[in-house]
Amino acid sequence: MSQTSDSARLAGENKYWQRAYASSNVSESRDVYDQWAMEYDQDVSGADYAAPELAAQTVVKLLGDADKDDIKILDAGCGTGLVGLRLRDLQPKGLVIDGLDLSQKMLDIARNTDVYRDLHVADLSQRIALQDDSYDIVVCVGTLTHGHVGPSVFPEFVRIAKKGGFVVATILDEIWESKGYKGEVERLGDAGRSKLVSDDVIGLTRATTTGGRRVVLRKL
Ligand SMILES: C[S@@+](CC[C@H](N)C(=O)[O-])C[C@H]1O[C@@H](n2cnc3c(N)ncnc32)[C@H](O)[C@@H]1O
Repeated sequence: MSQTSDSARLAGENKYWQRAYASSNVSESRDVYDQWAMEYDQDVSGADYAAPELAAQTVVKLLGDADKDDIKILDAGCGTGLVGLRLRDLQPKGLVIDGLDLSQKMLDIARNTDVYRDLHVADLSQRIALQDDSYDIVVCVGTLTHGHVGPSVFPEFVRIAKKGGFVVATILDEIWESKGYKGEVERLGDAGRSKLVSDDVIGLTRATTTGGRRVVLRKL
């Protein structure tokens, strides 16, 4: 990772962020986030991290004028619950939000938000223990990045989404193509499993307009 990359700028001098990006296996990632959990919200708010809010806005826009009763949302890699909190701000009623994350300590903080129905430990680099066609929207923010979860999770997100439902994900833009996320999204499209609705570049922080890639897929 070059010192001037967007990810290096976001991580700055933060030792947890640097270690999270440098993780070479799931056990290292879990340790970093278990240790970071108590300080995570303060650190990312200090860095002006924008992705949870931008993804939540997209989710609410996709719901549009639909009858918002019992809309089921899976927040994959939910961390401390920042996406759930933004969703509740924007759409206080009608959403049932479940969360998955590798780190129990991050999930403990997410539980304290009272936003989520179910929260479970899960490794998104493996098959996810959820049934096909379960969620109206699967959202994943900040988890498709260096040292975290690779592109093989996209078929799983599509499998879990209901037919006609959506996957909303943010990916670190500097690895969107090079690490195969774009290719996996294209393969799903070619296989007729999902349709790419949009992929736009977003700011990783509120002060920037680049660094992240926001992808919306519709399950066919
Ligand atoms: C940068 S945080 C993002 C959390 C939250 N979505 C947000 O935007 O604040 C990345 C999250 O990915 C989780 N994570 C890393 N590797 C994972 C894996 N293999 N499976 C599931 N979650 C993972 C971490 O525990 C952490 O909570």
